[in-house]
Amino acid sequence: MAIEPLQMSKGMTESIEKEIPLVTVKGLSKQFGSGCEYCSTPSHEEKEGNRCKHCGSIWAVRDIDFELYPGEILGVVGESGSGKSTMIRSLFLDEEVTNGSMTVSTYNKGKINIFNASAQQKRYIRNHVMGMVYQNPYLGLRMTFSSSGNIAEKLIAADNFHVGKIRERASELLDKVEIPISRMDEPPKNFSGGMQQRVQISKALANNPPLLLLDEVTTGLDLSVQAKVLDLIRSLQRELNVAMIVVSHDLGVIRMLADRTMVLRQGLVVEKGLTDQILEDPQHPYTQLLVHSLL
Ligand SMILES: Nc1ncnc2c1ncn2[C@@H]1O[C@H](COP(=O)(O)OP(=O)(O)O)[C@@H](O)[C@H]1O
Ligand SMILES: [Mg+2]
Ligand SMILES: [Zn+2]
Repeated sequence: MAIEPLQMSKGMTESIEKEIPLVTVKGLSKQFGSGCEYCSTPSHEEKEGNRCKHCGSIWAVRDIDFELYPGEILGVVGESGSGKSTMIRSLFLDEEVTNGSMTVSTYNKGKINIFNASAQQKRYIRNHVMGMVYQNPYLGLRMTFSSSGNIAEKLIAADNFHVGKIRERASELLDKVEIPISRMDEPPKNFSGGMQQRVQISKALANNPPLLLLDEVTTGLDLSVQAKVLDLIRSLQRELNVAMIVVSHDLGVIRMLADRTMVLRQGLVVEKGLTDQILEDPQHPYTQLLVHSLL
């Protein structure tokens, strides 16, 4: 049994960077409700916003396409209800998608649509291929387990059973997110919101996934705490070269973290491009309102 060191092999990831996308998503749609003959057509005429006028089904995410390159950070921004959480939960296989495909180049050479993977494959993917940080830390952590135990759970799920090595790795990971080692046996419920998010991040990174998904990671934290968590995410991204999808309603978070950004409205992508371009010269009227803080 070998627990990989946290540092990823940079040479490996850099050699494929810019050439092969790490993640390719095509036609991702997620509908809540059974749909009807009116709303199941590709045109969105029968819908008011994301809701079908006839049957009331919600089309939370509609026909999303994107690529993510190794080590890149993609931002996803939009107001509340625009489909951000549904999108990221679909990517992490928490939600069963209605349509679409997702391939990851490091998993079966990108030949498997992981939305259609078997339950066993999905378990592997969620442990090795991607990690998730939820807006609500109660979804990502067992609040009454020790923090080291939370990480151990992830390592054990990846077939690491050596107690000494698990503890060593847990303390290394908690140190990376600046949780004092003296507190590693305390449960996250004792911690502040910012510390809980940092424990979630270390747990999500436990098995060195090439992809980290973050949903509103700093929403609800004090501004000074937000800044520290965002700084930490940036330095982890540089150190580990892990690709990230950062979902936030807050353009400040997107500005600080994302290389490229997609703007979601009512489940549809209305604009995508380089973050600087989107913030400085938004093209879509909705993005213009968002950038000028009129929403
Ligand atoms: N489990 C669910 N059942 C029905 N509708 C849902 C469910 N989850 C989300 N929705 C709806 O999907 C849309 C997108 O929600 P969500 O993905 O949470 O948006 P965001 O994260 O951008 O605020 C909203 O209209 C929301 O009410
Ligand atoms: Mg959300
Ligand atoms: Zn309908």
